[in-house]
Amino acid sequence: MLIANEAPLSVSLRECTAAAHGHAEQSPFMSRLVRGTLTRGAVADYAGQLWFVYAALERAVRGNMHLPYLAAIADPRLERLDALERDLLELVGLDWREKLVPGPGTAAYVARLDELADKGDQLGLIAHHYVRYLGDLAGGQVIARMLRQRYGIGERGVNFYDFSSIGKIKPYRDAYRARLDALGLDAPGSGWLISEANRAFDLNGGVFRDLAERHCPVTESL
Ligand code: HEM
Repeated sequence: MLIANEAPLSVSLRECTAAAHGHAEQSPFMSRLVRGTLTRGAVADYAGQLWFVYAALERAVRGNMHLPYLAAIADPRLERLDALERDLLELVGLDWREKLVPGPGTAAYVARLDELADKGDQLGLIAHHYVRYLGDLAGGQVIARMLRQRYGIGERGVNFYDFSSIGKIKPYRDAYRARLDALGLDAPGSGWLISEANRAFDLNGGVFRDLAERHCPVTESL
């Protein structure tokens, strides 16, 4: 039975991850990234860490597309791995693959995605899908603008942020939220998805901490 004041999943998800989103946005690495105070090398390192994350996420989703809730949310047009590889070719060079090393935060994120994939935890995977792709469709577009304007990175280095294959972003995001709401999850299912979304933000935080250690001098004040 639907309780009258129960919010749709998309609303609860946004509200219950708002604090975690704020932390991610204001983390030293992210805030410097959008202010344009990092180096091109840091931007390339970030793309490299994302390569490990998206390889795991997209492997996990593809391997579980037989599960109905996940199949209702996933969309191959969102996949980023090819785009990241083109960006890494531009940002790092032909030998990008040999140069990539996952940080400990990235390794922990990948391990969690592999675990959810092995268990066939489709709600957990939807949580990770939401945190990364809806983020890329929102704040990611701000980041792309900064990469062009403040780091002088040309179109060949920002394929990751190019979602032209899905059409206009705003209607797509609205339709994605409608698909979440149409899953019709019960309270335990929604609760699990929301808690895993917060964990996904934490895992992203681990990636950003590694990057900050490598690229944000401790003496530099915000
Ligand atoms: C400096 C970095 C960031 C900026 C400027 C930023 C900004 C934004 C903005 C403007 C929105 C749109 C809110 C709306 O349409 O109501 C948004 C949504 C979102 N962002 Fe970020 N963001 C950043 C970092 C991140 C990170 C690192 C993640 C996850 C790893 C993330 C995940 C999300 C998600 C999942 C949403 C969708 C929320 C929803 O509507 O349900 N963001 N962000």
